[in-house]
Amino acid sequence: MSRDRKDTSAADILSVKGLKKYFPIQKGFLRRVVGYTKAVDGVDFSIKKGETLGMVGESGSGKTTVGRCIVRVYEPTEGSIRFHANGKMIDLLELKGQERQGMRKKIQMLFQDPFSSLNPRMNIMDIITEPLVIHKIGNKEEQRERGKFLLDMVGLSADHMNMYPHQFSGGQRQRIGIARALSLNPELIICDEPVSALDVSIQAQVLNLLADLQKELNLSYLFIAHDLSVVEYISDRIVVIYLGRIMEIAYSDVLYTEPRHPYTEALLASISKYEAGSSRRYILEGYIPDPSNPPAGCVFHTRCRYVKEQCRHENPLLEAHQEGAFVACHRFLELSLSGYDAH
Ligand SMILES: Nc1ncnc2c1ncn2[C@@H]1O[C@H](COP(=O)(O)OP(=O)(O)O)[C@@H](O)[C@H]1O
Ligand SMILES: [Mg+2]
Repeated sequence: MSRDRKDTSAADILSVKGLKKYFPIQKGFLRRVVGYTKAVDGVDFSIKKGETLGMVGESGSGKTTVGRCIVRVYEPTEGSIRFHANGKMIDLLELKGQERQGMRKKIQMLFQDPFSSLNPRMNIMDIITEPLVIHKIGNKEEQRERGKFLLDMVGLSADHMNMYPHQFSGGQRQRIGIARALSLNPELIICDEPVSALDVSIQAQVLNLLADLQKELNLSYLFIAHDLSVVEYISDRIVVIYLGRIMEIAYSDVLYTEPRHPYTEALLASISKYEAGSSRRYILEGYIPDPSNPPAGCVFHTRCRYVKEQCRHENPLLEAHQEGAFVACHRFLELSLSGYDAH
């Protein structure tokens, strides 16, 4: 089940172009740079106002690094990250001082493990209102009022405000994380695997909450996950990323039924409830290559069942093939790939 299509003419809230993040690899006593981990190697995508863009790929494909570049925990090596503010697109990487601080409020990050991201010695009220204190917004009383409002908004009660993180379940802790992320009235939230650590039954509750809050507050989400089972429900479009590069972008409903990239097909097969021994069974073998030494040509070619000579030395461009949909595969026109239902 995926969501009704959003208005596709909505304006972009975020536009990422040519984003690269290379981490230097240092060796020896002099910490000489001997190479680079190409965690993100030239990605382009945009998020519309009110949209949820899912981002999926195996562990190590660069998803967290993309998120951290957007909130500027990491300084990108190259590229632009533009954000819609005051009627125009502003390059976040060029902002300094006050302007940069101001923009910080508008983009928040939600983390996978709510426990490790919450200070165990702070009570819930202090955790939720800390961003207001840091940004000097309101007096003590106003901050508490806002804190109570936020608790209510995420389905917790004001009775909880003097309790500590360890007194809550995983799902409740993620609600606290959400309340904190909402405290500064953000417009975009980078959700980095926010339900991956939760039981399946709890995952749905947290996803529902995020979906409800999105409608109520007109939020936009970049929703990161390592497999396609979680993002279908919440995403409008999905970006499939592999070894720091985008393989495919498509509307959720289309991506699951008509994948265009062999990597997407493989990710779908891994969540399919196929019959054992089915001839269509296609499990991705091997591991994601070392991002400091990516394969030449298409980075996926070493694991692709459809590989041909061209793929080994020519890097396919990310091409638009439909409104809002892109694919980077030399063979996408000739291949007929299996979707989720086909297995
Ligand atoms: N701070 C860092 N320093 C060096 N290498 C890093 C750092 N963060 C991530 N990497 C490397 O970048 C690649 C992508 O990592 P990451 O963005 O965490 O992927 P994902 O979130 O998709 O699992 C991995 O090879 C990882 O080891
Ligand atoms: Mg990650």
